[in-house]
Amino acid sequence: MNNETIFAAILAGGMGTRMQSAQKPKQFLEVGNKPIIIHTIEQFARVDAFTKILVLTPADWVDYTRDLIEKYMGTGSKVQVLAGGEDRNATLMCALSYIETNYEVNAETILVTHDAVRPFTTERIIKENIEAARTYGACGTAIPATDTIVQSHDGTYMEAIPDRSCMYQQQTPQSFRVTLLKETYALLNEEEKKTLTDACKILVLKGVPVYMVMGDPCNIKVTYPSDLKVAEAFAQCL
Ligand code: CTP
Repeated sequence: MNNETIFAAILAGGMGTRMQSAQKPKQFLEVGNKPIIIHTIEQFARVDAFTKILVLTPADWVDYTRDLIEKYMGTGSKVQVLAGGEDRNATLMCALSYIETNYEVNAETILVTHDAVRPFTTERIIKENIEAARTYGACGTAIPATDTIVQSHDGTYMEAIPDRSCMYQQQTPQSFRVTLLKETYALLNEEEKKTLTDACKILVLKGVPVYMVMGDPCNIKVTYPSDLKVAEAFAQCL
């Protein structure tokens, strides 16, 4: 019997401080006449495999997000809006806690996590994430680095310039067997938890292999005002 359940967690719990948008967090700004977060949810809604698509926003924006989803996608979708946490990792933990409370988690339960502010992920990337999580237990999406990466701890002098041919830029989705993610997270100490900027690091810190799904240069993260201009240009090509 197939016991597999697959969840998506679209992480939209941030306030977008680097975007410096006074009215609303960046995930709610429009590109191509549609809020960024709606573009992102629509990409996931195209993939039938999901039991539920969780969207986690700042607590004050939950009702607003529900209204947006109803406006653009109607009622009766698989989307469930929840409050996120204080940082990205806390938001991920809110998604895990919702899944554990409301569903029976087993070794085949898969979670596909994604930044709400990457509206141009593709069906190919999402499906390859599901397949890689099934096969390898954990995966992240990445593309080969196009810029040479410089390492500097003091921000003044260059201390290392790693070989670019083995450097990649991390994107999302990042996907996991829920049991593997939970068990590995439980092994981290408080110092390690503070260094988490993405979920793959939970596993990398403990030496658990994380498969790389090839991303796409269009799968950009909207972070600064200039990214909005790039996103607008991409949205015109959809
Ligand atoms: N995120 C989240 N919960 C948080 C913080 C971030 O779900 N408490 C999400 C963001 O909403 C975003 C993704 O993580 O979709 C990537 O984070 P980032 O681009 O850093 O978003 P913000 O934290 O909103 O941006 P900033 O750092 O400029 O405030």
